[in-house]
Amino acid sequence: MNSKIIYLKKLELYKELDNYKDGQFFAIADQKIKNHLPQWIQFSPHVFWLKSPEDEKNLSSYGQAVEFLLKGGIQRSSKLYAFGGGATTDLAGFVASTILRGIKWSAVPTTLLAMIDGSIGGKVGINMPQGKNQIGAFHAPDEIYICGDFLTTLSDKEWTSGKGEILKYGFLSNEIHELILKKAAIEVIAHACAVYKTKVVESDFKEEGDRILLNLGHTFGHAFESHLKLSHGQSVAMGLRYLFKVLKQHEQLAQWDKMAKALSLPVEKYNIDHFPLFDINAFISYVEHDKKKIDSHLRLVLVKAIGSCYVEEILMKDFKKKIQTYEEFKI
Ligand SMILES: NC(=O)c1ccc[n+]([C@@H]2O[C@H](COP(=O)([O-])OP(=O)(O)OC[C@H]3O[C@@H](n4cnc5c(N)ncnc54)[C@H](O)[C@@H]3O)[C@@H](O)[C@H]2O)c1
Repeated sequence: MNSKIIYLKKLELYKELDNYKDGQFFAIADQKIKNHLPQWIQFSPHVFWLKSPEDEKNLSSYGQAVEFLLKGGIQRSSKLYAFGGGATTDLAGFVASTILRGIKWSAVPTTLLAMIDGSIGGKVGINMPQGKNQIGAFHAPDEIYICGDFLTTLSDKEWTSGKGEILKYGFLSNEIHELILKKAAIEVIAHACAVYKTKVVESDFKEEGDRILLNLGHTFGHAFESHLKLSHGQSVAMGLRYLFKVLKQHEQLAQWDKMAKALSLPVEKYNIDHFPLFDINAFISYVEHDKKKIDSHLRLVLVKAIGSCYVEEILMKDFKKKIQTYEEFKI
């Protein structure tokens, strides 16, 4: 991966974008952050706006976006900009990876989650009814512009989502674990997460080695996200919690609690009994569609100790039994 991560203030970002004002400019952007953008982008005819990015991260919107951009005259030499959270950068990056056999793109993440994870690493894709990110590609943006000024309008729910993903990093890295427990400023922790992910991805862009560890919490996380329509970060944190519970890893569960408290996460919202619509069969069917499944085996990321995670292949049918017999999941 060769993305350049650039930290900047909003006015500096405007100045950078102004370089493209009189030329051809194409973007896919989240409608919710429209007011954060310079006026000329707000009125540009070449911006494909998303009203509800996660709901539009699908084949149908992908097709509409490609058609819109082609009609607008996008060329192989054009660059596509993505302004929004992780759902927008995933969809825009996927469009960039495929339109005209692939063009360059730049990401401007606007949520905490996208600034620490979603926009970094070049994994792009869209959802299918069978599950999250079932179609995708590896296509890194040339630049990732990180501008904390976008976060002023973020809702509590989205702050919580970003912090959920931070909690995952707290198991992967000793340094981030310490920062969380000593309640360092969120921008300091966020920067450490972005640096951590960049390093991992630079050494294993195509997920043939250690990059898979970044999927910690995602097997259950994606299942919670698809089934209960929770935010991505809350799903990952909850996925991690229930992984420890199902596997009876009490020490890791205690670490989860400590970090959740330090990050001021609303812990009661990470309990299954908080979701009356939870259906164990639907949940299991999403787990069975996990992309880390090879034949009858699931590649599960597990925690040995803080800063020491590993992959274990487990028979899907054995894992399914553990889930079905876990007391909180029993109907
Ligand atoms: N490609 C990857 O490596 C990777 C990694 C992690 C997550 N993801 C994907 O990212 C998505 C989750 O990311 P997300 O949480 O950013 O989702 P998102 O893009 O859906 O944004 C969450 C919500 O915040 C709103 N929003 C965005 N910026 C805002 C701002 N500045 N102020 C106010 N509201 C704003 C959006 O409209 C949306 O309602 C999922 O689709 C997940 O699969 C991808």
